[in-house]
Amino acid sequence: MAGAGILQDIPKMIRLTEKVVKSTSLPVTVKTRLGWDENSLNIEEVAERLQDIGIQALSIHGRTRKQMYKGEADWTLIGKVKNNPRIHIPIFGNGDIDTPQKALEYKERYGVDGIMIGRASIGYPWIFRDIKQYMATGNIPDAPSIDERVEVARKHLMKSIEWKGERVGIVEMRRHYTNYFRDLPNVKEFRARLVSEMESAALNEILDELKAHYQEMMLHTEY
Ligand SMILES: Cc1cc2nc3c(=O)[nH]c(=O)nc-3n(C[C@H](O)[C@H](O)[C@H](O)COP(=O)(O)O)c2cc1C
Repeated sequence: MAGAGILQDIPKMIRLTEKVVKSTSLPVTVKTRLGWDENSLNIEEVAERLQDIGIQALSIHGRTRKQMYKGEADWTLIGKVKNNPRIHIPIFGNGDIDTPQKALEYKERYGVDGIMIGRASIGYPWIFRDIKQYMATGNIPDAPSIDERVEVARKHLMKSIEWKGERVGIVEMRRHYTNYFRDLPNVKEFRARLVSEMESAALNEILDELKAHYQEMMLHTEY
């Protein structure tokens, strides 16, 4: 019954959330899905009940738990919650936003107060900056340079080690290199080294080498 599991028992979800709201003076917000499965798309009712017990904002992922990540997120129900005249708390939409254009289009089409982004930010945390600038000016910033990409990956690695310890931090970081360096030509060889190394000093050296290699390449090609 963890996470979206609670969508199978809405009265319990409401009781549980109410206890949390009552036990703190801090604002409590909820993030959930449209419902447990296609036969229980109850987010409209759930949103009203959550608002009634005092939550301060609601984020909705436009899928059911049963869908996991399959198909496209259905934003129409998110829009219905937002446009319900009884709802006055901020409603954030979530699901499948992966470009600044889509973020603006969905924000305008469904009227949501904000957007949450998950997968598109993995290995590309610049998506938030891109969207903010696009919404403010209509322009998208230049793609991050090799230098920025390497330095952000390095910071991520260091933070991962700080948080999880050397061994786990290094291993957990492995899945992220592909995303940080996804469109670099022939990056496989560097990636293979990054995912087999267990020493942070050596990893830092590989990152330096990778940076120098692609900076050099870019001096000589139109890439
Ligand atoms: C690695 C990963 C971990 C996640 N962990 C959680 C979580 O702990 N709680 C939660 O509500 N959603 C979690 N999600 C779901 C996301 O918050 C989001 O609802 C979903 O990815 C859809 O948004 P997206 O299309 O922008 O990725 C997770 C998603 C990913 C990819």
